[in-house]
This record gives sequence, C-alpha cells and structure tokens, in this order.
Amino acid sequence: MSKLGLGKINGIIGLQWGDEAKGKLVHKLSNNSIYKAVARFAGGNNAGHTIVHEGKTIVTHLISSGILWGKKAILGSGVVIDPKSLIDEMGVIQSLTKESLRTKLLIDSRCQIIFPWHILLDQILEDMRSSKIDTTKRGIGPALTEKVSRDGILIGDMLNPSFEQILAEKKEERICYINHLLNNNYVPVVNKDSYRKKLLEIDKSVVEDYLRYAEILKPYITDTSSWIYEALRDGKTILAEGAQGALLDNTFGTYPDVTSSSTIVGSIFTGLGISPKYLGDVLGVTKAYATRVGNGIFLTELGDIGEILAKKGNEFGATTGRKRRCGAIDIPALRHAIRLNSPNSIALMKLDVLDTLDQIPICTYYVEGFKVINNFPTLQYEWNNVEPHYEYLPGWERSTRNCRKYSELPRELIRYINYIQDLINVEISVLSVGPSPEETIFL
Ligand code: GDP
Ligand code: IMO
Ligand code: MG
Repeated sequence: MSKLGLGKINGIIGLQWGDEAKGKLVHKLSNNSIYKAVARFAGGNNAGHTIVHEGKTIVTHLISSGILWGKKAILGSGVVIDPKSLIDEMGVIQSLTKESLRTKLLIDSRCQIIFPWHILLDQILEDMRSSKIDTTKRGIGPALTEKVSRDGILIGDMLNPSFEQILAEKKEERICYINHLLNNNYVPVVNKDSYRKKLLEIDKSVVEDYLRYAEILKPYITDTSSWIYEALRDGKTILAEGAQGALLDNTFGTYPDVTSSSTIVGSIFTGLGISPKYLGDVLGVTKAYATRVGNGIFLTELGDIGEILAKKGNEFGATTGRKRRCGAIDIPALRHAIRLNSPNSIALMKLDVLDTLDQIPICTYYVEGFKVINNFPTLQYEWNNVEPHYEYLPGWERSTRNCRKYSELPRELIRYINYIQDLINVEISVLSVGPSPEETIFL
C-alpha cells in the first residue's frame, strides 16, 4: 500500500500542469475504511477528474468520487461553485449510488458562487489579452478576482432570507460593470455584440435561476471547517483531493499562465480552514511523461513523440475536450513541484502510454548556452532562455496493461522507475498502467 497514515489529513497533489490522474488515485485510495471524508479544497469545475467506477468511466468536476464508497464529500471554503454544474453532477452521482446525497455531501458556506457574468467575463478578459491564457472559460478567474476584491457572494448567502435582494443588487452592479467594459471604445474586444446579447440574457434569467438553485443546495450548506475539525479531534482521517497541479499554482506555477487559486499542499489548510498541524502524508502525482492543456511555457513539449503520447494516452481535456500538449517528463520542473509540496512518496501514472516507444526521453536539466541549469526558472523571460537537455533510456516495447505486480514489469521499465526515483530523490510508491483501479501497482 502507499504510505498514507491514520488520524490526519492526507493529500493527493498534482505535480505537473494538472491531469496527472489524481482522480483515479482518489477513487482507488478513498475506498479504504480509514477515510471518513474526502474533501476538495481549491479550484472549481475547471477540474475534470476521470474515474472508472464499476467499469463505467465518469468525470467528476466538483464532487469527490469518495462519495461512491459512502464517504462524506466535502467542498471546502477554497472551492468556487458553479451551482448549475454542481446540481448536474449531483444528478450523475445520485444515479450511481443508492445512498441519499443529503447526508453525504457537505458544502462550506464560505464557498464563492460562480455566476454567469463570471463566465462571460472569463471570455471577455481572454478576448482582451494580447497573450491568451486559454482558460477553461468556467468563470474561475473572475469569481476568484471578485472574492479578493470582496465583490463576491458566498454560497452561505443562499440561506439568508434576503438572498433575492442581494442577488438583484449584485446583478445590477455587475451588469453595469460589464456594460462599461463593452461600451468603452478603448477595450479591444471583438465580439462586443454577441457579449451584449449574452449580458441581456443573464439580466433576464439570473435571479430566477439562482433562487431555484438555492432551493436545491440549501440543505447541503454548512460549516465544513468545524465539521472537519471535529472529525480530526475524534481521530478520524480525511483525504484531501487536489485539483490542477503545482505548475498551475497562482504564485509558484508558470505565471501568468496559471489558474487563479493556490494548488499546492499549503492550500489544503487555507482551503479547508484547518491548521497545518493536522497534515498527514502527501502523495505527489505525476505522469511518466508530461502534458499541458492551454497556453504557456512547456519546455519539454515534443512533436512526433508528443503525437504518439497524445494518441496512446487519449490526451484530451476531461473538462473542455481540448487536445493536451504532450512531451517528456521534466525533472527540474518535478523537483520544483516536490520542493513546494514535500510529498512523502510519488505516484507515477500512465506508464503504459510509453509502452511502444523504443527510447524514453527524460529531461534531466536545462542548458542556457554552455551553462547547465538544474533549477526550474522562476520568471517567464528566464524560461525563454533555456533549452531542455534529454537523456534517453531504452523502452520496453511491450504492453504493460496486464502487469499487476512489480515482478511482472519489464526490466527496462523498472530501470526507468529507478532512474526517475534517483533523480527526484523521493520514493515512488504507486505505479499505474491503465485507467481502471485494478491497473495499479503499490510498491
Ligand atoms: P486528473 O485531472 O488528475 O484527475 O486527471 P484526468 O482524469 O483529467 O486525466 C487523466 C486521464 O488518464 C484520464 O482519462 C484517466 O482515465 C486516464 N488514466 C489514469 N491513469 C491511467 C493510466 O495509468 N494509463 C492510462 N492509459 N490512462 C490513465
Ligand atoms: P485538473 O484538476 C489541466 C488550466 C487551463 C488554463 C489554466 C487557467 O483536472 O487537473 P482556468 O480556467 O483555471 O482559469 O484556466 O489552467 N487548467 C487545467 N489544466 N487540468 C486542470 O484541472 C485544470 N484546471 C485549469 O487549461 O491553461
Ligand atoms: Mg483533469
């Protein structure tokens, strides 16, 4: 078994640009009697976590798959919630479990609400940028911006008898703001007319829609920070489900091409409202290669090999369906993510995707002219100055999908694992050779 202990908050954290297969691991590991609850602590429905549950492939965006094993699914205060997306997902989850969600799903009252004007703003702001981020257009950035500027509405406000009035006032304010943006001739937005049309639709329906969502969500809204605190004091163990990955962290990722929240281990505590003294074990998750969806620096992106990986790994975004860019595992980037998260051990995912390669590229360091760069650069202009240096290990050139034990793995694959482990200096404790839970090997 992986090294996840008892009586604490254990975390599963992505070490790349998201999509490391965190969802598969959360689903696999949360089916363990030590866990009382599984909690999301950051991001929103920009996340897409794929699981294979009883043979069926399902993508979750907000609700942790631990709920399918009867665990409480918590949406901590760091999560931004699109009520429509959440309600749709509740329907999907309810169809998969006999238990009522009423006792299983807990939403923190401090979660920010995503409104349609955030989604519209996500598009308008992207339109205005000369250098595009290529966001998921789920309204995450604008909703978190309004959280920081103190212009947001909390999901707990749905319980306020004056919610309708709060909503109506906020709607007027936001519509006025967006109209101002669109009417300003200096703002370089191409699709102004279509945005104006969308704004009119929002104006007409948002209050009614959100009052309806509130009636559905009210029973689930509570103070999850206190709930988790009590559970921890009772000696219970909670699993924290990371979203996105360390390289998309708003501060320590490849800024500005990042998401709007913190994605690293510290955000478990700020996002759940719990002291770091309850930290148990952290499992860092990485693919055996690298992918990125959206724009931004990706030093080890590869052309032909990238195409092979994309095809074999079915690398299409679980949320937006966008094609993921693919390349080699990047050791300096991984070391950076490891430094930020101090994982106790690492899960190396999607090894089977490398099955057909005759050589496996590994970026062991970067070069700048004749200079060797071992660290992941901090700033955008520095990334532009460095080139990846690759080493190649022999491939195994046979299918690993049926391997269930370490001893069944090809010799070359074991060499690859040991090589990576030596380079990152953290124990690799989990291997994955396919999307299904049984295609997992614990070391
Ligand atoms: P997450 O966002 O980190 O949960 O990852 P995603 O679910 O967005 O993307 C991971 C993709 O890889 C999903 O389609 C998974 O079903 C799939 N997957 C997970 N583990 C493996 C594996 O070991 N091998 C292969 N081939 N696919 C995997
Ligand atoms: P999971 O949890 C991969 C990327 C977007 C974009 C950038 C900013 O499935 O690993 P945003 O909509 O957050 O403002 O977009 O971040 N991004 C992800 N990429 N996996 C994710 O989540 C992502 N969530 C956001 O593609 O580049
Ligand atoms: Mg994903």
